[in-house]
Amino acid sequence: MSEITPLADLADVSGRERDVVDDADPRALIWDLLRGQWRFSALYAFVDLDVAGALGDGPLTAGELAERLGVDRVAVGRLLRTVAALGVARSVGGPETPRYALTAAGDSLRADAPGSMRSVSLLQGAPVLLEAMESLADAVREGRSSFAARFGSFYGWLATDPAARRHFDVFMTTRSRAVAEAAVAAYDFGGIGTLADIGGGKGTVLATALRAAPGMRGLLLDLEPVMAGARAFLASEGVADRCELVVGDFFRAVPRADAYLLSNIVHNWDDDDALRLLGNIRRELPAHGRVLLLDMLLPEDDRPHLGKEMDMRLLALYDGGRERGEHEYLALLGKAGLRTERVIGLPNALSLIDARPE
Ligand SMILES: C[S@@+](CC[C@H](N)C(=O)[O-])C[C@H]1O[C@@H](n2cnc3c(N)ncnc32)[C@H](O)[C@@H]1O
Repeated sequence: MSEITPLADLADVSGRERDVVDDADPRALIWDLLRGQWRFSALYAFVDLDVAGALGDGPLTAGELAERLGVDRVAVGRLLRTVAALGVARSVGGPETPRYALTAAGDSLRADAPGSMRSVSLLQGAPVLLEAMESLADAVREGRSSFAARFGSFYGWLATDPAARRHFDVFMTTRSRAVAEAAVAAYDFGGIGTLADIGGGKGTVLATALRAAPGMRGLLLDLEPVMAGARAFLASEGVADRCELVVGDFFRAVPRADAYLLSNIVHNWDDDDALRLLGNIRRELPAHGRVLLLDMLLPEDDRPHLGKEMDMRLLALYDGGRERGEHEYLALLGKAGLRTERVIGLPNALSLIDARPE
């Protein structure tokens, strides 16, 4: 009978180094980063095939799932085994013919789950965006995004792809909802007459602020493709009667209001564009006015931070879009004639900057 070599000793018999299994080896970090792509591909296949939708009715075996989705039984079994190891699904029943159920994380990938992650996952895996991320080295080499060179602005590309635009708007709504709740808990919108949400998307933050401040009116400025979704969303939030929708380009002009909200806007643009936009706001801003800027403030040390990773996306997709640190935001606001009064930390690595006219 041949002797079975314990797994842990494999490196010794093969002479190879145990770079994947030995956490003390500094290269384990590199493996982990590389494996990020394999994990993402498994997640994306799971989402693209809408496995979560199929498992939403209850656990299924690989065979049952294959029949339901019209896919290969063996391959989908391998996919299930992998995503179960990643925490997106879990096997129930014996190891012979396991059935797979959704975990809480996997459940968030169903299209109709509250705060669904399906749209954002589909957007991240869109071939055009993946191509842009793959060309990050070119963006670093040339200092400009090849995606932007090909499509113009990211929002220009979204205008050519209605499904991507829908996914993006759902993504922003999901992402902004929790932050909006935290923003209205931390900031008093009560004294504001009219709040203009500039580039407001479907109006998640604006709707939350309007609900918190029943005497306030709202204005939502954005591009034409967002408007139908914004109208329906604001109506579903019960604030449509206090909110005016304005189709427009914030680089040309902004409507007059008592306060301006810029939520996840400034980080999309370079300093010149950001100043053009802030300048348009400054021109309309009354003496009692406020500019509320909601964005991520990068820490000035090596701490891991969502914004630093998001910055790679901005580098790949936007010409000039970039995350900034607190000093950079304050300097930008100062150049636009705005004095920062307060900076309030919020969840999801975001902060609210409250600025007033100088
Ligand atoms: C990152 S999203 C932020 C959406 C929303 N403020 C939020 O935080 O959920 C940026 C928004 O700016 C809008 N936008 C981009 N360029 C614009 C322009 N030139 N004029 C008006 N809106 C614009 C986009 O359509 C999009 O809805």
